Amino acid sequence: MENISDATKLFVDLRRHMWMAGIEMELRRLIWQIGVTGKYISAKIHESNRKLAGFENIYGEEQLALDRSSDDILRNQLKFSGFVREYASEELPDIVQIGRGDEQYSITADPLDGSSLVDTNLAIGTIIGIYKGPLCDIGENDIVAAMYITYGPLITLVYSAGKGTHEFVLNREGEYVLSEEDITLSEKGSIYSLGGLRKDWLPEHRKYVEFLEDEGYKLRYSGGFVPDINQILIKRGGIFMYPALKESAVGKLRLIFELKPMAFLIKQAGGMATDGKKDILKIKPESLDQRSPIYIGSRYEVEKAREFLTKGR
Ligand code: F6P
Ligand code: MN
Repeated sequence: MENISDATKLFVDLRRHMWMAGIEMELRRLIWQIGVTGKYISAKIHESNRKLAGFENIYGEEQLALDRSSDDILRNQLKFSGFVREYASEELPDIVQIGRGDEQYSITADPLDGSSLVDTNLAIGTIIGIYKGPLCDIGENDIVAAMYITYGPLITLVYSAGKGTHEFVLNREGEYVLSEEDITLSEKGSIYSLGGLRKDWLPEHRKYVEFLEDEGYKLRYSGGFVPDINQILIKRGGIFMYPALKESAVGKLRLIFELKPMAFLIKQAGGMATDGKKDILKIKPESLDQRSPIYIGSRYEVEKAREFLTKGR
């Protein structure tokens, strides 16, 4: 798409941007609907008063009332969109059929990522993957669009429907206005972000982190996947990693709900995402709750990670 000048982009809202990019009508309406849902989730965050509900999600983790209500809001909104066949969420044990069965798209969601940061008032987010057809067919490279919303000092929406990765900011009139078009990562960045306890790291990962530190990379980790990835994207490079650990060879983050959508957005911005060896977008999930290690960001750092993890250098 032709680049939009700084002066005119103030007036380009999400719907207009998608129309100008030639994205097909149902997908446009779906992405827009999810943007609207982000506003409702944000209202819930404000009203929640940061209370813990005291129950567990399917991973045995503490779940905030907010996690549940974000999931309810999203599921209900999508149900009435008319475009969604199936919905799978980190908060639910199974895929839910929410359409008639003949709709084009299915959705995966992490409705409120980083909810443990709610009480500290750090940024949190919603992560969405959009697939054609039913979710049981998630195979190689078949995610057609992805997006995330950040709830921070500003509410922002980042989407890609396979034609670049773009950022919008919610303005006071309630419109998502274009702020960064065709975000492109540099070949090499200068920040790193990493989860997992140092004492649980495997030797090859430890060597890689030492390499980054020797090269002068700065540590930037908030503990929220959405803002941490957003930082890599908006700063145009660097690496986020959540490695395999001694106690958990698959790391912590969820392949379907968290990693594939982010891998799609970063790839569309010219970056890469691997589990240390394989491309995240090419991993065929065997279960809904599958986890995977991740190295995601600029090409140089991700390629280097692959060298350290495969050749042990
Ligand atoms: O969704 C899981 C999550 O909260 C991510 O947002 C974040 O990247 C990660 O866990 C943080 O894990 P840890 O607390 O182990 O650093
Ligand atoms: Mn999450």
